[in-house]
Amino acid sequence: MAYPASRPRRLRLNENMRRMVRETSLSADSLIAPLFVRHGKGVNKPIVSMPGHSQLSVDTAVREAETLAELGIPAVLLFGIPDHKDAVGSENFDPEGIVPQAAYAIKKAVPELLVISDMCCCEYTDHGHCGVLNAAGAEGYNERLPEGYLLNDPTLSILGKASVIHAQAGADIIAPSGMIDGMIGVIRAALDGAGLEHTSVMSYAAKYASGFYGPFRDAAESPPSFGDRSSYQMDPANSREALREVDLDVAEGADMLMVKPALAYLDIIRQVKDRHNLPLAAYQVSGEYSMVKAAAEKGWIDERRVALETLMSIRRAGADMIITYWAKDAVRWLRGGV
Ligand code: PBG
Repeated sequence: MAYPASRPRRLRLNENMRRMVRETSLSADSLIAPLFVRHGKGVNKPIVSMPGHSQLSVDTAVREAETLAELGIPAVLLFGIPDHKDAVGSENFDPEGIVPQAAYAIKKAVPELLVISDMCCCEYTDHGHCGVLNAAGAEGYNERLPEGYLLNDPTLSILGKASVIHAQAGADIIAPSGMIDGMIGVIRAALDGAGLEHTSVMSYAAKYASGFYGPFRDAAESPPSFGDRSSYQMDPANSREALREVDLDVAEGADMLMVKPALAYLDIIRQVKDRHNLPLAAYQVSGEYSMVKAAAEKGWIDERRVALETLMSIRRAGADMIITYWAKDAVRWLRGGV
């Protein structure tokens, strides 16, 4: 049928008509809020590159978690800023480390709120890379690999050990984000070996080496001290490789999958969604947030409208869950009507 019999505008008559035919929904149910936690008390240190977000201490993070739970947000994602960094990122597997402390306190105050731990070494290592580096004289040295190359298998044992510590402290979900080969299988086995078979694993299955992480590196104080992450994170040019990465994580026992970043990778979200039936998350990363914030500050863009539009687009592409720095604002906006 063609015009004039067909008039698609009939279905856009008014808001009730549009509401009735809307194909995609957005609500608190699918939003996950990241939190940056550091040592101290009463800390609320604004992150300059991410207006509206702060580094929090355990006590202030608990208060924020309570607010998020009251808004109906089901989960928080914890990033830790340690007191002390070293070559292997020891605070990551210290039971007194910042994430175990925060996970414990949040679960105690708001037991129903899910705590997800971003499992990576980069916040804890003095070189800012996501694992153990090849260094002459150090453990695991491989003379066939370049100095400073991220050593895969020595990193795996750290991730397994740290995952158990974080889960024992209260984390419900471990979310390994380092793009280390085999990380899902090793973490699953470590959790099961420690009687933590109820702890879920959300894999950052397809994570790209992206410029959009720029503001985050201020937030988590984790920039690489040399080089970049291209030898472990994915090349933005590749999509078939993303499907191979995802297949491996499914085979290794991931409970949930993730694509990251979100907006520049909507095609990947859709392909993963069509290929697997596991719950799928997308990470709307720091740069996606901060560039809208910056344009809004200049008066060039309507923050609320653009934020909700991007969140809806990510849902439309196929994400069940979205990790977003707008989680709290989005729920408030949605409650007030769009
Ligand atoms: C840790 C990690 C990063 C992000 C999430 N987990 C940084 C990175 O990979 O460089 C980025 C999140 C964001 O930009 O919001 N590996």
